[in-house]
Amino acid sequence: MNWNVADLPDQTGRTIVVTGPTLGGLGHHTALELSRKGARVVLAGRNQKKVEETVAAIREEVPKAELETLHLDLASLGSVRQAAASAARLGAIDVLVNNAGVMGTPYSRTADGLELQLATNHFGPFLFTGLLLPQLVQSADGRVVTVASLFHRWAFKPPLGDPRDQNGRYSRWLVYGQTKLANLLFTAELDRRLREADLPVKALAAHPGFAGTHLAANGQYGRASGGVATILDATVRAVSQSAAAGAWPTLMAATEDLPGNTFVGPSGLHQMAGTPRVVGRTKQARDATAARRLWEISEETVDLRYP
Ligand SMILES: NC(=O)c1ccc[n+]([C@@H]2O[C@H](COP(=O)([O-])OP(=O)(O)OC[C@H]3O[C@@H](n4cnc5c(N)ncnc54)[C@H](OP(=O)(O)O)[C@@H]3O)[C@@H](O)[C@H]2O)c1
Repeated sequence: MNWNVADLPDQTGRTIVVTGPTLGGLGHHTALELSRKGARVVLAGRNQKKVEETVAAIREEVPKAELETLHLDLASLGSVRQAAASAARLGAIDVLVNNAGVMGTPYSRTADGLELQLATNHFGPFLFTGLLLPQLVQSADGRVVTVASLFHRWAFKPPLGDPRDQNGRYSRWLVYGQTKLANLLFTAELDRRLREADLPVKALAAHPGFAGTHLAANGQYGRASGGVATILDATVRAVSQSAAAGAWPTLMAATEDLPGNTFVGPSGLHQMAGTPRVVGRTKQARDATAARRLWEISEETVDLRYP
C-alpha cells in the first residue's frame, strides 16, 4: 500500500488531541493536515506562546480550522492530571496522538523523581492516555497513536528497573532508545488490554524516519536557535526528509483502517524517508512479558491503573 496525504479521509466531526504541536515539528504538521480535513484539533503543549504560534500558522493555511489548546507538561505528573481534568470539557475524543518527546537530554530528574526522557516520552503519555481513556471509549471508535522511533532498535534492553533510581552510568542515547522501545511495548500492551476489556479503542504506533525538526537541537542545547544550536538544527534539516513528510506515518496510523498494534513508518531505504507503510519492529519490541512488566511499573509509578 502506497499511502499519500491526499488519502486522508474527511475528519469533520472528529476530535483529535495532538501533544507537542510546536511550530515546524511533527505535531504541527500532524495537526495542520487534520485541520485541513475538518477535524477539531486540540493542541496540547507545555508552552502557551509556542502553542499560539502554531494556532496562528495553521489558521493562516486553514482559516476555518477548529482549534483548541490545552496546557500539558508531560514531565510533571501533576500537570498531566490537570490537563486531563481540563480535557473533560472536550467530550468524546476520537484520536489521541502521543507525539511530544525529547531526545538526548543531559541527565536530569523531574520533580516526581523520574529521569527526564523517560518521564516525558513514556510515563507522562502513559498517565495522559489512561486519564483520557473514558473519553476515547465514548467516541465508540477511539484510537491512540504513539510516535516511536527507529531508535527503539538501539535500546539494548527495556527500561524495567526502578524508575526513581539511576543504576550505573547515564547514557542519554541509550535511554532515548529505551523510551522509544517503551512506546512500542506500551502500544502492544495497551492494545492487548483494550481487546481483553472489550473496549472500542485501538492502539497503534508510528515513526517518522529521520525528519527535519528541532528535536536534536532542543535535546542537546535546550533550544533550536542561537550559536551551535542553529548549526545543528540546519544540518539536520539539510540531510533529512521534511517535517511535513515525517508526519505522514502518524497521519496514516491515525486515520487508515488498520488493526490494533500496527506500526507505521516510511517505506524508503532503511525506513529513513518516504511514503508510509506498515513496518516491523525488533524482537525486543514484541516481548509480551517485558510489555506486561513495563505496564505494571508504569501503573505504580504514575499511580493509575487502567483500562
Ligand atoms: N524528528 C525525527 O527525525 C524523529 C525521529 C524519530 C522519532 N521522533 C519522535 O517524534 C516526536 C516529535 O518530535 P519532533 O521531531 O517533532 O521534535 P520537536 O519539534 O522538538 O517536537 C517535540 C515536541 O514535544 C514537546 N515537548 C517536549 N517536552 C515536553 C513536555 N515535557 N511536555 C509537553 N510537551 C513536550 C515540545 O515542546 P517544546 O517546543 O515546548 O519543547 C515539542 O512540541 C517525538 O516523540 C520524537 O521522539 C522524531
